[in-house]
Amino acid sequence: MSQLSQHEQWASKIGFILAAAGSAIGLGAIWKFPYVAGTSGGGAFFLVFLIFTLLLGYPLLIGEFVIGRHTQSDAISAYQKLAPQTLWHVTGLIGMIACFIILSFYSVVGGWIILYLFRAISGGLGGLSQTQYGELFGEIISDPFQTLSAQFIFMLLTIIVVGRGIQQGIEKASKLMMPILFLLFLLLVLRSMTLDGAIEGLKFLFIPDFSKLTSETVLYALGQAFFTLSLGVSVMVTYSSYLNKEQSLPKSAISIIAMNAFVVVLAGLAIFPAIFAFGMEPNAGPTLVFAVLPVVFNQIPFGSLFFIAFLILFLFAALTSAFSMIEIIVASVAKNDAKKRQSATWLIGIFIFIVGIPSCLSFGVLADFKVFNRTIFDIADFTVSNVLMPLGALLISLFVSLKIAKDTLFAELRQGATISKLFFDIWFFLIRYVVPISILIVFLDVLGLLDFLK
Ligand code: PHE
Repeated sequence: MSQLSQHEQWASKIGFILAAAGSAIGLGAIWKFPYVAGTSGGGAFFLVFLIFTLLLGYPLLIGEFVIGRHTQSDAISAYQKLAPQTLWHVTGLIGMIACFIILSFYSVVGGWIILYLFRAISGGLGGLSQTQYGELFGEIISDPFQTLSAQFIFMLLTIIVVGRGIQQGIEKASKLMMPILFLLFLLLVLRSMTLDGAIEGLKFLFIPDFSKLTSETVLYALGQAFFTLSLGVSVMVTYSSYLNKEQSLPKSAISIIAMNAFVVVLAGLAIFPAIFAFGMEPNAGPTLVFAVLPVVFNQIPFGSLFFIAFLILFLFAALTSAFSMIEIIVASVAKNDAKKRQSATWLIGIFIFIVGIPSCLSFGVLADFKVFNRTIFDIADFTVSNVLMPLGALLISLFVSLKIAKDTLFAELRQGATISKLFFDIWFFLIRYVVPISILIVFLDVLGLLDFLK
C-alpha cells in the first residue's frame, strides 16, 4: 500500500478492509481490553465500552473515512485541503504524536510476545504450574537485555515492512491469518469456559455492577473504544485516502466494528473464566494476559503447539496495527517520495524505539520510578488512550460537522453506497452533537467539573 501515490488506490476492495481491520485488531482487543476491564470493574466497563463503540466509534470511523477518501491525502494535508489557512491540521499532528507514543510502548508488549514465542518454541513453556508461569513472566519482563532486544526486533519488523512498502502482501496474508486466529481463540474460549468455576468469570464480564463505575472507568472505556478502533489519530483518514469511490464507507465501517468487537468478546471469554477458575486476580494490570494464557493452553491437548500458533498470530495482529501507526507518520513526512520513505521509516522507527526504552524498563529497573503513582509505561498509555485519542476524536467530529459542507458529506457517503437521507441525518446528528458532547462530558467529569451536579 505504501508505494501507492496519492492518486493510486488499494488493489482490491478487500485490501482496504483488511488493512483497516488489521490496524484495529491488535493488542488493544487481545491484551489491553482484558487488563483494563479487569482493573475497571468488569461488566459495567464492558457495557459502557460497547455503547461508546457503537454510538461514538461507528460515526467517527465513517467520519475519518470521509475525510480520507474525499481528500485522498495524508493526515496533515487532508485537513489543510479542506480548511486551508487554518489550524485544523493540528488534528493530524496530534494523531501523529499519539501514534508515535503508542508505538513506543506497543513495541514493548510486541517484544513480550516475541520472547514468549522463543520460549515456547524452545520448549521452555510447557507443564509449569500457575505460579511458576507468573514468576517466569515476571523474570522475563524485568530482564532489560531480553526485553529491549525483543522490542528492537518488533520495531525492526515494522520498519522493514513499512519502509519497503510491502504491506499489501501482508494484508493478503491476513486474509488467512485472521480466520485462523479466530479459530484458535474459539478453542481457547471452549477450554476456558469449561474449567471449574468459569461461571464466575462470565458473571464478572457480563453482569454489570454499576457501583464500580467511576468517572475514571468511564474515561477508560472511552479511551479503550477509540484505542481498539485506531480512532482519533487519523490512521483511518490515511488508510481511506488510498480508497476508490466504489466502496461503501458505512458498510466498511460496520464490518470493521463487528470484527473488532468479535475479537474483544473472544478475548474476554478466553481470559476471564480462566482467571476465576484458577483463582487469579483480574486486576493484575498489563501483565494479565501473559500470565493467564499459558496456563489455559497448558490444559489443552497439544497445548504447546497451539500456543506457538497462537503467539505467531498474536504477533501478526500486533504488527499489522504497528504498521498503521508508523505509516501515518511516514506518509505525512515522505508524501509520495519512495526514496524518502525508506529513510524516513528507519529514522522514525529507531527514534520510536529509543523513546520506548523507559517504558520497557518500567517493568524492571525503573519499576519504582513513578509519577502520580504511575510507571512510565502507564503514563505513556494513559496520555494517549485517555487524553490524546479522545481529544483527537473530539476535533475530528467537530471538523467533519463544521468544516465540511453537508452536501459534500452526503455526496461522499453516497459514493459506492446506497444510503437513505434518514441514515445520513442520524449519522450527522451523532457526529455533530452526540460524539463531541459525550467526549466533553467525560472529560469534564474526570476533571471534577461536573461535581456540582451530583
Ligand atoms: N487499534 C490498535 C489495537 O487495538 C491500536 C492502534 C491505535 C493502532 C491507534 C493504530 C492507531 O491494537
